[in-house]
Amino acid sequence: MTRHIQLTEQGKLKHFLTIEGLDKALLTEILDTAESFAGMSEHQVKKVPLLRGKTIVNLFFENSTRTRTTFELAATRLSADVLSMNIATSATSKGESLLDTIHNLEAMHVDMFVVRHALSGAAHFIAQHTAPHISVINAGDGQHAHPTQAMLDMFTIRQHKKQFEGLKVAIVGDILHSRVARSQILALNTLGVAEVRVIAPKTLLPAQVKTMGVIPIHDMDEGLDDADVVIMLRLQKERMNSAFLPSESEFFRCFGLTEAKLKRAKADAIVMHPGPINRGVEIASSVADGPQSVILQQVSNGVSVRMAIMSMAMHSQGVTA
Ligand code: CP
Repeated sequence: MTRHIQLTEQGKLKHFLTIEGLDKALLTEILDTAESFAGMSEHQVKKVPLLRGKTIVNLFFENSTRTRTTFELAATRLSADVLSMNIATSATSKGESLLDTIHNLEAMHVDMFVVRHALSGAAHFIAQHTAPHISVINAGDGQHAHPTQAMLDMFTIRQHKKQFEGLKVAIVGDILHSRVARSQILALNTLGVAEVRVIAPKTLLPAQVKTMGVIPIHDMDEGLDDADVVIMLRLQKERMNSAFLPSESEFFRCFGLTEAKLKRAKADAIVMHPGPINRGVEIASSVADGPQSVILQQVSNGVSVRMAIMSMAMHSQGVTA
């Protein structure tokens, strides 16, 4: 349903709101474009002039460390003018509506909004109400989607495993409240992995889990068996309005990733986490900092993947290199 709004008539990326409706060729183009930017961080001059003269506004209505800073770095490396609004000190605290904020920023000739919001659908809503030349990138909306996180995760998996075909991927933890898991599941299935397993207590799986193209499992030993990729998720307490668990220590005992449990996965399995990590709740420090962890590589890859998505969205608006 969002394909028509995300893509131009020529099938090029205009907005990036969700993985839903995007095909394997487009996801692969994002990964290939990101690869072309990946070496830049090692260069003395880390900039390319692809978005020179363009203005990008980061609108983060929810807290963020990784997403906000990597979007800022990515925009800077593409030579765009970038500003990050401090929502806490903006006029939204005086009752200004989201759309009035957007229209006021539009009046300053903005070319792209990067939006994080606690409400599912917020980025989509903004994309429907902005001027036609403006691109909107979803940096996480409620429990709905975090598509750039999913793409940097796909980039990290491809970096280590070379191809998606045949991979068994286990996603462990609070699937119910996770926008990251929803976007990852769509991307993994579109890119053609063999299996996506979701491992969680029943209370932390969505009711419609069987329609999501995953295998639900409630036991870590069974779920991790022979896995190529293990993705851990934190408990998203800010989205929990009732007791979903007996206690954090009980959760760690049953679903926390320890070195002993990781032995069930393949010897060369990689361990991922979108962050922020909660040590001793969903993952043991020895695993988070261990040889199979690629958690900090995910963060590094966020810059090149976000550069790819921003430059592709702007190119569909007629920017030339
Ligand atoms: N992974 C992620 O979205 O982290 P932040 O909340 O720090 O941006």
